[in-house]
Amino acid sequence: MNPTASDHHFLAAIFMFSWLITGKTVSGDIESDKQVLLNLKAHILSWNPVMNENPFTGWNSTDEFPCNWPGISCNTRGNRVTAVDLSNKNIPGPLFRNFSGLPELEHLNLSANIIHGTIPDDLSKCRNLRALNLSHNIIEGEFNLAGFDNLELLDLSNNRIQGSLRLMFPARSFRNLVVLKLSSNNLSGPVDDLFNLYRNLHSLDLGGNNFSGNLSFQFDRLLEFSVPTNNLGGEIPGWFFSENCSLRRLDLSDNFFIGQIPKEISNCKDLVSLDLYGNKFSGEIPPEVGSLSSLQSLLLGENSFSRDVPESLVEMSNLSLLDLSRNEFGGNVQEVFGRLHQVNSLVLNGNSYTGGLLSSGILELQNISELDLSDNDFSGPLPVEISQMSNLKMLVLADNQFTGSIPHGYGNLSRLQALDLSFNNLSGSIPSSFRKLSSILWLMFANNSLTGEIPAELGNCSSLLWLNLANNQLSGAIPPEFFNVGSNATAQLILLNQVGQTASGFSQCTNLRRWIPTTDSPLSSFTRFAGRRCEIKWDFLLKGCLSFPLCTPQEKSGPGYLQLRGNKLSGGLPPEISKMQNLGMLHLDDNAFYGQLPPQIGSLPLLALQVSKNMFSGEIPEEIGTLKRLRILDLSYNNFSGELPGSLSSLTELYKFNISYNPYLSGRIPSTGQLATFSQSSFLGNPLLEFPFWTEEGRTSSPPVGEPKELLDRFLFAFSFSYPFFFVSSFLGFLFLGNEKISPLKTKRKSKTRRM
Ligand SMILES: *[C@@H]1O[C@H](CO)[C@@H](O)[C@H](O)[C@H]1NC(C)=O
Ligand SMILES: *[C@@H]1O[C@H](CO)[C@@H](O)[C@H](O)[C@H]1NC(C)=O
Ligand SMILES: *[C@@H]1O[C@H](CO)[C@@H](O)[C@H](O)[C@H]1NC(C)=O
Ligand SMILES: *[C@@H]1O[C@H](CO)[C@@H](O)[C@H](O)[C@H]1NC(C)=O
Ligand SMILES: *[C@@H]1O[C@H](CO)[C@@H](O)[C@H](O)[C@H]1NC(C)=O
Ligand SMILES: *[C@@H]1O[C@H](CO)[C@@H](O)[C@H](O)[C@H]1NC(C)=O
Ligand SMILES: *[C@@H]1O[C@H](CO)[C@@H](O)[C@H](O)[C@H]1NC(C)=O
Ligand SMILES: *[C@@H]1O[C@H](CO)[C@@H](O)[C@H](O)[C@H]1NC(C)=O
Ligand SMILES: *[C@@H]1O[C@H](CO)[C@@H](O)[C@H](O)[C@H]1NC(C)=O
Ligand SMILES: *[C@@H]1O[C@H](CO)[C@@H](O)[C@H](O)[C@H]1NC(C)=O
Ligand SMILES: *[C@@H]1O[C@H](CO)[C@@H](O)[C@H](O)[C@H]1NC(C)=O
Ligand SMILES: *[C@@H]1O[C@H](CO)[C@@H](O)[C@H](O)[C@H]1NC(C)=O
Repeated sequence: MNPTASDHHFLAAIFMFSWLITGKTVSGDIESDKQVLLNLKAHILSWNPVMNENPFTGWNSTDEFPCNWPGISCNTRGNRVTAVDLSNKNIPGPLFRNFSGLPELEHLNLSANIIHGTIPDDLSKCRNLRALNLSHNIIEGEFNLAGFDNLELLDLSNNRIQGSLRLMFPARSFRNLVVLKLSSNNLSGPVDDLFNLYRNLHSLDLGGNNFSGNLSFQFDRLLEFSVPTNNLGGEIPGWFFSENCSLRRLDLSDNFFIGQIPKEISNCKDLVSLDLYGNKFSGEIPPEVGSLSSLQSLLLGENSFSRDVPESLVEMSNLSLLDLSRNEFGGNVQEVFGRLHQVNSLVLNGNSYTGGLLSSGILELQNISELDLSDNDFSGPLPVEISQMSNLKMLVLADNQFTGSIPHGYGNLSRLQALDLSFNNLSGSIPSSFRKLSSILWLMFANNSLTGEIPAELGNCSSLLWLNLANNQLSGAIPPEFFNVGSNATAQLILLNQVGQTASGFSQCTNLRRWIPTTDSPLSSFTRFAGRRCEIKWDFLLKGCLSFPLCTPQEKSGPGYLQLRGNKLSGGLPPEISKMQNLGMLHLDDNAFYGQLPPQIGSLPLLALQVSKNMFSGEIPEEIGTLKRLRILDLSYNNFSGELPGSLSSLTELYKFNISYNPYLSGRIPSTGQLATFSQSSFLGNPLLEFPFWTEEGRTSSPPVGEPKELLDRFLFAFSFSYPFFFVSSFLGFLFLGNEKISPLKTKRKSKTRRM
């Protein structure tokens, strides 16, 4: 039955009546919320009308109800918007100034965007907000939380917010607050007893700011407390840890805390992770720590603890990761470590040990999968006993004074994923038994005195992606069979990403920086950030990202490299090189290679091709122009001849280019295209090359990354405060590239002089 005209009038009258009484109707409420959402959409699009991934597809203004729009949720009656989740959508511009137009809004998630400016007062009128996540933006200024009485979860981490906690939290208790994350901002001032009033606070994360002074509150109610990388100091008094301590994770790393660890820490029976790395703690590690039976990670590196490590550690049945690196222990490795049968990761690098590898018994620990003894003073031959450590996945003996040859038995370590023997005095040849390393991803032998040829058998290592043999005395030609190396790494990479979920001792950024030198690498954006733990960066790298912190899908590639710089290798580069389909960086500089560059090189996913200081001759293959992602091309100091291939002009990503000192090169340098962006220093010593007329201003090198520069800089800024979260992710490698050694970034720390 169709409604009549009078029915319509009647309904309209009711509608008007109810509107007059309540000021709203069911549909009127949602209509108003819808209008606010459309204003939000218009606001965001006004800042970037051509967003790559438009979050608003599906926000159709002709819809009566916005409740099914992507990112929007409503209450059960469907008449009010309660949640707006637009995280990770590349949203630019300042924060929208009318969220208070959504009076029932409880949950606002705008994390991981590029929102800038300050937080407007309007937001504090959202009195029903229970969860607010604005993390990973570039929000600045001060923020006063008056008005946010119902907040349960607040995440403002990774922004540029300033001011003190007192200013942020006015004199009142946020009784409902459970999770508070303010890490990686520009906050300062003390961390005092303010949080004693927050009866429900469980998780407090203040890392990566500029907080100073002494801590002065009980950790009692907290399950997680995290203040790494601040300027806090003073002693940790015993009363911090009452008998009611319920802490599971405590991270005080990279501060200036002094004195002893109080024995009362043993009150915190639920502690799973204790990170005191990088402070000025001294004295004995209290034996009471041994009663923390849930503890899995104990990080005490870079402090000044007494050499007498308590026996009670042996009783900690769940202890998986022990980091006692950089404690100036010296002498022999303590015997107590040899009784830690439960431990998986033992990190003792940077301690000036001279011996005790065998007498301590650490090489007999069958459960060890990660062993880092780098940067000590061990000498003599590499222990063959390591061949029996069948669970080893990571072995780092770099930067010692080991001599003699590499034991053949190491080829029996079939689970090994990373082996780093760089910066020792090793001689002899690379054992052919290494063909059996069926899990190996990283093999680092740089800066030794290895001789002989590169064994053809290494070609059997189908998972090997990163091979660094730089600065040895290797000679002969590279056998064609070798080029099968790394042909099937996917399975190992997947495995590595899975292992990433567990705590690992090998996440230190110093390892990553050694692997990727600060200059001259297409991956140099990974090394621009301070910090100690690099899980997140490793995660990016292992996923094939080429820049950090921006990683667009089209940027991904096989990140592998072959680093052979500074040897006596000769012969030609055979066409079989084209089999290395995961090869991102090829460094052959400073050898005696000769012959033509094979045109097949054009089929590799190369980012960097460096063959400087060899005797390559013939024409530069036209096919190099097909390496569309090439960022670094160095052909200098060779005998290339003929004309410069025109195809080079189309290498639009190229930012470092050198063909100097190839005196037989001829032809004309193009005055347009990518080559025209390089200065004369890229073309020195080539008398036959014709230079076009140009003005000096026209010749500046372009920025390395294809992102809009301003955007990138903002990101770089936002992430420059970046510090790692609790054992979030990957398991790591420690790798070297060439002869560059990077000193620890944090100069405020004591640092051992590193030998070259
Ligand atoms: C919006 O909805 C109307 C009516 O349902 C439909 O005709 C129109 O195509 C939709 N627009 C978009 C962009 O989806
Ligand atoms: C905010 O939204 C409400 C509801 O739509 C509207 O009445 C008000 O005018 C808006 N305020 C501003 C400043 O846009
Ligand atoms: C906030 O969002 C970020 C990034 O989108 C996410 O990683 C983080 O876990 C969220 N915070 C909370 C407390 O859920
Ligand atoms: C916000 O979005 C991020 C990323 O999508 C998600 O991890 C997080 O759980 C969301 N919610 C909150 C309250 O942060
Ligand atoms: C951090 O805040 C201080 C004021 O507290 C300001 O002087 C400084 O410029 C800020 N630093 C950055 C990098 O924004
Ligand atoms: C950190 O705070 C101290 C004062 O406690 C100040 O001297 C220093 O400049 C601040 N550093 C930064 C980077 O803002
Ligand atoms: C901080 O702690 C140190 C040592 O525990 C103490 O000497 C100093 O007086 C304390 N400073 C403040 C401001 O409480
Ligand atoms: C521990 O908790 C109990 C019960 O909540 C309380 O009575 C006692 O005072 C607390 N002890 C300390 C040292 O805070
Ligand atoms: C040790 O770890 C296991 C497995 O994670 C767990 O079931 C057990 O409860 C832990 N032991 C203690 C004492 O926490
Ligand atoms: C190795 O660890 C497992 C538990 O992960 C344990 O059962 C076993 O006893 C350990 N091995 C030794 C030799 O202690
Ligand atoms: C390596 O394994 C082979 C066979 O699996 C065995 O014969 C040899 O003794 C092992 N070498 C060492 C040093 O353990
Ligand atoms: C690649 O390696 C995995 C395991 O490491 C293996 O199962 C698979 O058969 C290999 N694929 C090829 C084509 O060799």
